[in-house]
Amino acid sequence: MGMTTSDSRGPIGRRSFLRLGAGLAATAGLAACASGADPAGKRIAPGSPRVAEVERARRLAGARSTSVVLNAVSARVDLGGVEVQTWAYGGQLPGREIRVRRGEILKVELKNQLPEPTSIHWHGIALRNDMDGVPGLTQDDIGVGTSFTYEFAVPDAGTYFFHPHSGVQLDRGLYAPLIVEDPDDGADYDTELVIVLDDWLDGVDRTPDAVLQELKKNGMGGMGGMDHGSMPGMTMPKSELLGGDAGDVTYPHVLANGRTFRDPQAIEAKAGQRVRLRLINAAADTAFRVGVPGSRLRITHTDGFPVQAQEADVVLIGMGERLDAVVTVPAGSVPVLAVAEGRDQYAQVVLRTPAAQPVVVEDGLVKKLMALPVLMPASLRAAERVALPVKQPDVVHELVLEGPGDRYTWTINGKVYDPNDGLPIREGQQVRLRFDNRSRMFHPMHLHGHTFQVRADGPRKDTVLVLPGRSTEVDFKADNPGQWLTHCHNIYHGEVGMMSVVSYVE
Ligand code: C2O
Ligand code: CU
Repeated sequence: MGMTTSDSRGPIGRRSFLRLGAGLAATAGLAACASGADPAGKRIAPGSPRVAEVERARRLAGARSTSVVLNAVSARVDLGGVEVQTWAYGGQLPGREIRVRRGEILKVELKNQLPEPTSIHWHGIALRNDMDGVPGLTQDDIGVGTSFTYEFAVPDAGTYFFHPHSGVQLDRGLYAPLIVEDPDDGADYDTELVIVLDDWLDGVDRTPDAVLQELKKNGMGGMGGMDHGSMPGMTMPKSELLGGDAGDVTYPHVLANGRTFRDPQAIEAKAGQRVRLRLINAAADTAFRVGVPGSRLRITHTDGFPVQAQEADVVLIGMGERLDAVVTVPAGSVPVLAVAEGRDQYAQVVLRTPAAQPVVVEDGLVKKLMALPVLMPASLRAAERVALPVKQPDVVHELVLEGPGDRYTWTINGKVYDPNDGLPIREGQQVRLRFDNRSRMFHPMHLHGHTFQVRADGPRKDTVLVLPGRSTEVDFKADNPGQWLTHCHNIYHGEVGMMSVVSYVE
């Protein structure tokens, strides 16, 4: 197995900016969905004065601001011995991380040099609704050759990421970490390492759009060509831990920080150093078990928010989830292993102390890891300082999750996504969502613009795995007016309908 330095990204040139400002998108399209007659009351639209007012209150006097320009481009990237044509921010995989401090204003100009309209969603951030990046609900498409500037206060520290909310673009290379630092961070670790996990097929044998078409045609499947890292004759992924099907699509590769297991990123570390791993699952259809052979993880945060620290050998991270864990570096080289649940594929990032021999990851190491007990993030508890007070909900919405139906539809309460339909709530209410999974597959259910609490005593999260045949309750305070998606973070499930709107009304 080859070793590389931590900076093995190829010299992929930035494209010059063409035709910027040509054809600014008309903004009339949003009026229609904002004024939809809702029997429960008038919707608080993304552009309403109340949204701007709440944003003003969020902005601290003298807040610093950070400006970033992002180019969404078509590019060739090296996955570690495999070169593919894909779409990526700045031509890099993952896109370059954005790092700010809690309370800052983040300003990002996105220049769309892709052949399709796009958008950016700031996953997990409690931001102003009109910057949430959902075309057709909170903004218009960012057209080909145009740009759009996102600007918002970032209220909470933690590990986040961003990705498009346009079709199945997330299953290309369009994702990057968004790290929000807390001035009080750093007491229990010496250094940090961000690891973004992904399942990969784009540019190998098909595009995500082709997969979506196949799924719609065949109902299930999405079996493409496979190569190394896959079990020969493998059928669809299954997982006991996840209570059934582990995925609907097969992937030729899984990646950690844009690299296959064969040619991983390697990070220099010192023995005894405490490394804060910031793990982000940006995959479309794959959950990962993550562990460091021979070392225990001390889990400190889920989805950005602190938990009562707990030790674990291995954790499971579903699509859209993030998890922070501190690990103490042993002498020698050791991989942070991410095994794709139900798939017999893995990815890794190597921690290497200076004098160490290159680590050889044989199957034995993976098997050993797979035999260890697995911690599910939803079983953690919120740290006291972020725990929500236990209260009776003012409103409860049930979301029945079902599928796949005819032509691969996945539904919430028997319906596919309609931006003009929604689950009404009012500002100030204590809200409970009850996700009731009546399908045979797990769903990582994500809520935009809020960090809920799982159960009365669970962790704060914005994405929670709902296992087959189970129901999961999450509570939150309705303190961020607007129109917010709640959806399955399996990108294919979401795209064919498993999305709904948590809709603030007056
Ligand atoms: Cu990462 Cu709508 O979500
Ligand atoms: Cu799903």
